[in-house]
Amino acid sequence: MTTRILFVCLGNICRSPAAEGVVRAMAPELVLDSAGTSDWHSGEPPYGPMQGAASARGYDLSGLRARQLRAQDFLDFDLIMAMDEDNRANIEALRPAGNGTPVHLFAKYAEGQGLRAVPDPYYTRDFDGVLDLIEEAARGMLAQL
Ligand code: 4NP
Repeated sequence: MTTRILFVCLGNICRSPAAEGVVRAMAPELVLDSAGTSDWHSGEPPYGPMQGAASARGYDLSGLRARQLRAQDFLDFDLIMAMDEDNRANIEALRPAGNGTPVHLFAKYAEGQGLRAVPDPYYTRDFDGVLDLIEEAARGMLAQL
């Protein structure tokens, strides 16, 4: 069975579309999507500086469009990856009764770094650093599927 993975951040214009693009490049057979806990950027492409940093590494995020997380996502995906603890709490608040879809912190899969969050480059401006972390977490996550 194909594994379906949803990546979730706050705005769905930086961290989660970058994670989607990186994992798609590494594992094109998986069904992937990303979403935001907010609707602040719904319909928008990934943030320009994030697209630029990703593009420099060969990841094309230009076709992605932000959308808000919805309860149906718990049924449509096998795994949900949260970029930070706030995201995870907001994701859990939408969980349908009786649903058991795992929600994990994506940063945990970055080997040996002891991280619980993917820092938000919208605020840190470290778009390259966040891609390093996302690539590392992507490799770790894929090794555990
Ligand atoms: P993201 O980053 O959650 O990684 O997409 C953000 C993008 C935009 C905002 C916050 C976080 N914002 O406040 O508009």
